[in-house]
Amino acid sequence: MGKPIISFQNVVKQYDDEVILKNVNFEIEEGRFYTLLGPSGCGKTTILRIIAGFSEATKGDVYFEGKRINDVPANQRQVNTVFQDYALFPHMNVFDNVAFGLKIKKLPKAEIAKKVTEALKLVQLAGYETREISEMSGGQRQRVAIARAIVNEPKVLLLDEPLSALDLKLRTDMQYELRELQQRLGITFIFVTHDQEEALAMSDEIFVLNKGKIVQSGTPVDIYDEPINHFVADFVGESNIVNGIMIEDNTVEFVGKRFECVDGGMRPNEPVEIVIRPEDLSLTTLENGKLSVKVDTQLFRGVHYEIICYDEQGNEWMVHSTKKAKEGSQIGLFFEPEDIHVMRFNESEEDFDARLESYEE
Ligand SMILES: Nc1ncnc2c1ncn2[C@@H]1O[C@H](COP(=O)(O)OP(=O)(O)O)[C@@H](O)[C@H]1O
Ligand SMILES: [Mg+2]
Repeated sequence: MGKPIISFQNVVKQYDDEVILKNVNFEIEEGRFYTLLGPSGCGKTTILRIIAGFSEATKGDVYFEGKRINDVPANQRQVNTVFQDYALFPHMNVFDNVAFGLKIKKLPKAEIAKKVTEALKLVQLAGYETREISEMSGGQRQRVAIARAIVNEPKVLLLDEPLSALDLKLRTDMQYELRELQQRLGITFIFVTHDQEEALAMSDEIFVLNKGKIVQSGTPVDIYDEPINHFVADFVGESNIVNGIMIEDNTVEFVGKRFECVDGGMRPNEPVEIVIRPEDLSLTTLENGKLSVKVDTQLFRGVHYEIICYDEQGNEWMVHSTKKAKEGSQIGLFFEPEDIHVMRFNESEEDFDARLESYEE
């Protein structure tokens, strides 16, 4: 466990009558890579703005290294932001863009030059000092924006969807680079995205947000394997989600059949939702299948086929398989008890943790 660096305690943000953040609580530790993941409008940028001091919490407390910072002005906080649109100065060259903040702080010229050179080296732009911003590509501008933020040696770097303007190939390269940069600098990154793949690939810890609330937090593996509700299961990765009934611990019913599973801690006969990931389903014969389905469509996705099937109740099942299926054929789907993930309707993270703990004891 690292040292806590930022914490939000019951933070509420309200504009007029609209509540944008509803009691947000979290703790951020030193030296790790965090991602705020959620759909557009869920409050990600608002959280970053409150951390940076560009916006004030309506209620609640914000702590930095144990001190309440609600009233500390932005320029006295040890954080820097990389904005979505980079916000570079178009009429200045690379050096002057990166040096800007240091000049305002009136650092000696030689020290500024040293720090700027160092920052540009870190983002692999050594030698680009005199280039105009207009002569730089999207990916290079992105790097200048990052250099400008890290040159101040912040303890925390905030990145607001910094890769969303880049094309897919460059975005993937930058994901690796950012992750590496974070490890090299050893400072805390708080990265914002609406892209679940990006979040899963880069983070030590993900906070999933919906409508101004953190609905789940955990490692990428936790969030992917144990989504606590329909929203998370659906938002993070491809999922098959059907309604079911938790008959008793380790027995769940869906599509009219009973299956062994590894979940528990619910009321007998509690209505639940079932998630099975497409890669956990395999194609088999009707006799060997746990579910019988009719193959509707199949698409080749480069490494696997994506096969859409329907069961007799009309539920859709997506399967990722290296085997082909025949469209229109009746086949079996196989899965193991541990591939079934049972979710309570709209369970909160706290209730989820408490239930699993009591069940596992
Ligand atoms: N200055 C503002 N005044 C009123 N509403 C705002 C303001 N800034 C953001 N909002 C609203 O707050 C919500 C969350 O916005 P934001 O934090 O930018 O979401 P995200 O970054 O997740 O897309 C949105 O509904 C947005 O319209
Ligand atoms: Mg935003």
